[in-house]
Amino acid sequence: MKITIVGSGYVGLVTGACLAEVGNQVLCLDVDQSKIDILNGGGIPIHEPGLLEMVRRNRAAGRIAFTTDTAQAVAWGEVQFIAVGTPPDEDGSADLKYVTAAARNIGRHMDGFKIVVDKSTVPVGTADKVRAAISEELARRGSKIDFTVVSNPEFLKEGVAIEDFMRPDRIVIGATDDSHGQRACQVMRTLYAPFQRNHERMLFMDVRSAELTKYAANAMLATRISFMNELANLAERLGADIELVRRGIGSDPRIGYDFLYPGAGYGGSCFPKDVQALARTSETAGVPSRILEAVEAANEEQKRVLARKVTGFYGADLSGRTFALWGLSFKPNTDDMREAPSRVLIRSLLMAGASIQAHDPVAMDEARRVIGLDLQDRPELIAQLRYCEQAEDALQGADALIIITEWKTFRSPDFVLVKERLKDGLIIDGRNLYDPTVVAGAGLRYAPIGRPGNP
Ligand SMILES: NC(=O)c1ccc[n+]([C@@H]2O[C@H](COP(=O)([O-])OP(=O)(O)OC[C@H]3O[C@@H](n4cnc5c(N)ncnc54)[C@H](O)[C@@H]3O)[C@@H](O)[C@H]2O)c1
Repeated sequence: MKITIVGSGYVGLVTGACLAEVGNQVLCLDVDQSKIDILNGGGIPIHEPGLLEMVRRNRAAGRIAFTTDTAQAVAWGEVQFIAVGTPPDEDGSADLKYVTAAARNIGRHMDGFKIVVDKSTVPVGTADKVRAAISEELARRGSKIDFTVVSNPEFLKEGVAIEDFMRPDRIVIGATDDSHGQRACQVMRTLYAPFQRNHERMLFMDVRSAELTKYAANAMLATRISFMNELANLAERLGADIELVRRGIGSDPRIGYDFLYPGAGYGGSCFPKDVQALARTSETAGVPSRILEAVEAANEEQKRVLARKVTGFYGADLSGRTFALWGLSFKPNTDDMREAPSRVLIRSLLMAGASIQAHDPVAMDEARRVIGLDLQDRPELIAQLRYCEQAEDALQGADALIIITEWKTFRSPDFVLVKERLKDGLIIDGRNLYDPTVVAGAGLRYAPIGRPGNP
């Protein structure tokens, strides 16, 4: 099938590559010329395990191509996936300007029936706006071409995006209850057939329910995290061990083990903005959500937990102190720095006078870019932040090590070397990676989240 993907970021590129991998002919559009240049040069603009090889393979086979030419992209596929960003607006609601621009472009250039698929995470009612934008453009041209808008939210997780797309838990399709909607459901069934050979994973529903499903999923997961973070803070105060509590509740099948890890707060391109957007939607609809407001507030607070631990040890003035920082991306296996808790920590340590020696296996280039932007108001602080190619180099001469992203390579460090290199022999662990007794056995001090350590 000929498919167009509008927006070649984390979601668009993975979607395009996976659809090409099973034999479709995919044309990916982006407005960002530099991204398209990288893709046409045989690279990819993001870090996602397995994606580079998949894109290269399918590009070589002629099944995937990249362009900035909107007219060509609209003409290409009967199915047009919209996978552009939906960042938060000033009040936290989803900013739909990229989605409506993409829709307008489709309306401006389409010359035959199109199935327009909203894959971006968009608030309830967006399909109506996409439909209106396309209709307006068609009316401007005096054209009467049929089309339909489908909601097909994406549930992939960065870091395991290909696996998630290839073996999805579910494929949600929201379509209208008319002949065009039915045709779209048929096409979606054919398109997704290779991804559900083992058993049926498609859930067909009305468009609004599909749109809400995506927000409900992310909000539920974010709620679990914020709840565990609050419990961890309580456990710490009460002298209980959150890790044991986690196991104790996770064994209940109604609760389960997933998404029960306390830490330094959730980040990334989805949870923060989706929780906020759903909260704004609820408010606007006259059904304000106390839970979502609390989830967001608890997370903002949790992003400061590591800085609080640091000042607990060293006081508010950190001049002359140096901290090794392991991990910068918002989670492992990605270079995505959007809303990463590391950004909050770095800013507050630098503002308090500290120096930082940071290491991340893949996100350092992206970190340089975004932290440069974060510190535009205090550019003199940038000199206090040094990036180290090796994790061990970051330890040299530092007072303490702070862990903020749970990359696998941090899980089993050489504790003897860590002790040798750290002046204070202190690990502040924002991801509870280690067994406190092992760390203590190595003669190190240990401050995890919600667990008794030996600080
Ligand atoms: N990243 C994730 O893990 C994830 C998972 C599920 C859903 N989502 C949702 O998917 C959507 C996209 O997220 P992302 O992380 O891929 O964003 P992204 O920022 O990585 O990619 C979006 C791309 O769209 C391009 N773009 C913007 N306007 C355009 C236009 N008019 N025409 C063509 N291209 C245009 C941008 O240049 C950018 O490359 C968001 O709504 C997000 O919430 C993201």
